[in-house]
Amino acid sequence: MPIIAPSLLSADFLNLQNDCNMLNNSEADWFHLDVMDGRFVPNISFGLPVIAAIRKATKKVCDVHLMIEEPDKYAAAFKQAGADILTVHIEACTHLHRNIQQIKQLGMKAGIALNPHTAIHLLADIIADVDLVCLMSVNPGFGGQQFIPNTVHKIRQLKSLILEKNSAALIEIDGGVTLENAPEIIAAGADVLVAGNTVFKSANPTETITLLKKIGG
Ligand code: DX5
Ligand code: ZN
Repeated sequence: MPIIAPSLLSADFLNLQNDCNMLNNSEADWFHLDVMDGRFVPNISFGLPVIAAIRKATKKVCDVHLMIEEPDKYAAAFKQAGADILTVHIEACTHLHRNIQQIKQLGMKAGIALNPHTAIHLLADIIADVDLVCLMSVNPGFGGQQFIPNTVHKIRQLKSLILEKNSAALIEIDGGVTLENAPEIIAAGADVLVAGNTVFKSANPTETITLLKKIGG
């Protein structure tokens, strides 16, 4: 069964408590928390105080996706705010190996995110060190965009790299995941589905999470 990680970017920011309670009482596994700085991506979302507040509202895994430049400057602060998994973008890290070690030394699981144009083979010498790879299936910055079909090919490539290098990394797919395309994404080898609009804009978010969870048996 896939790990389901609803993205709170699509939650109701005036009623975050309600949406946290809904997720707590659902089959959602992780809370996916999207941090944007207006520099790495052309949008600004929310940051440390909001994550610290959400941390108090759930016991589920807080999966923090940093779409920011110089993520090393803030890793300790995100640990302090309650992140369990901290994912940085390969495109934002000149010293990626050092950044990954820093995250692990702080006591968090470490993830690397790849933009749609970034090739899988760039992970060859770091894949054994990471807990998660987040493949962006849209250009990061906004919820509610359309899934880029080439991602399915990248999932297969990543899966074989993980097996080849004996890595324990989970494959997370982020952007445009729907009930319609999720079966193909899971069949290609994904472990974690992020879903923003599909969950929060549906008539029954709890039921939608259950349906996503059931995909792939
Ligand atoms: C996009 C974010 C995603 C986004 C997904 O930059 O990283 O996590 O919230 O939203 P949907 O599922 O609506 O595409
Ligand atoms: Zn995300």
